[in-house]
Amino acid sequence: MSTADQATGSLPLDWTTWIDDACTEVEAAGRWRAPRMFAADGHVGDLHDHRGDLAAPDVVSFASNDYLGLSTHPAVVAAAHAALDRWGAGSGASRLVTGSRPVHHDLEAALADWKGTERAVVFPTGFAANLSVLSVVAGPGVVVCSDELNHASIIDGCRLARADVRIYPHRDLAALDAALAEAPGRAVVVSDTIFSMDGDQADLTGLVEVAGRHGALVLLDEAHAVLGPDLPEASRSHDGPLVLRVGTLSKTLGSLGGYVAGPRRAIELLVNRARPYIFTTAPTPADAAAALAALDVLCSTEGDTLRSRLAGLVATVADAVGLAGHPSPIIPVVLGAEERAVAASAALLEHGLWVPAIRPPTVAPGTSRLRITLSATHTDEQVDRLMAGLSHLGVLVPADTAVVGENGVRGAA
Ligand SMILES: Cc1ncc(COP(=O)(O)O)c(C=O)c1O
Repeated sequence: MSTADQATGSLPLDWTTWIDDACTEVEAAGRWRAPRMFAADGHVGDLHDHRGDLAAPDVVSFASNDYLGLSTHPAVVAAAHAALDRWGAGSGASRLVTGSRPVHHDLEAALADWKGTERAVVFPTGFAANLSVLSVVAGPGVVVCSDELNHASIIDGCRLARADVRIYPHRDLAALDAALAEAPGRAVVVSDTIFSMDGDQADLTGLVEVAGRHGALVLLDEAHAVLGPDLPEASRSHDGPLVLRVGTLSKTLGSLGGYVAGPRRAIELLVNRARPYIFTTAPTPADAAAALAALDVLCSTEGDTLRSRLAGLVATVADAVGLAGHPSPIIPVVLGAEERAVAASAALLEHGLWVPAIRPPTVAPGTSRLRITLSATHTDEQVDRLMAGLSHLGVLVPADTAVVGENGVRGAA
């Protein structure tokens, strides 16, 4: 409870004072944040502070989730331009009010095809997609079992749904099994497939097997799954559990928006019940067209080449920081104390490298870290520069001292 809230015993504080006190509290905790400005059309640009003053010129960013560099791919940019020219800038209102543009339908058909599902529906963001699906399937009386490291949008979706939420320890299938065994009625198992701050992966085979045994619906958030993991065969079989797949258009596909893919009736139910679909304006035609063009690239041989380049870069950097076999382009370098992570990020900036420090409340206290994100379009020279910066920080691990967990996460030797 904030100091401002505690003061309500006497006279209530006026709102201006309350806001000021709340801001002061964040500042006093050393957690004040404001977005910096990055004048770049790819990975390199001038970094300015939030006032607009130049902080560092010619910085290489390892901060973006644009894993394949598709946000600046010529075909993607051209598709967005063409949609702007053809359909205009905005989409006007909710699709149930103004109707869809053809590009919304085309994108949904392509997403369903890509995911191997009957249908897909798009939302303005991935965050809205998670709020939507959870608020529809997980009402009061439903037990939702959620991995403790799931994304904030899943946590908020559970709260919105007013379900009975049981948080299970990270990737702990025995705990999940026990929680499901105690669930009195319908249940949902929800998990990121790649966890956004650790970059490790869920055990999808085990998760689908456990959920299937208890008749639970499986909700998978594949926002960061650019290099996999793929869904196990069991998730596609008729006697397997019902699986709904959430994703975002804003990372691998370089655009903006989110989606849910699954069986036709489930998607139709979202269209009819999901408030973040019904009561919000549809994604813009340009965003939808960009995502559609990006999906085209992704599913081509060029997409294969981009993904294998990304996998190669991941292997190089992950090996060097003691994370051999790491499954995703999110590479955490856990440093512990907040000050250490902030200082490490500042030191890298002096080397012309932007690698954000992630600290509480985004991650647990004592696990503050650098979060490196790699893209297929980082050049070899840029990655060499990153490695030199990490070496200077002293966080590179000699190959023979790395201890690698089954999920690809490092243990210090
Ligand atoms: C696992 C996960 N799910 C959902 C989202 C939300 O996606 P979007 O940025 O499209 O709202 C994110 C965003 O960072 C994420 O990491």
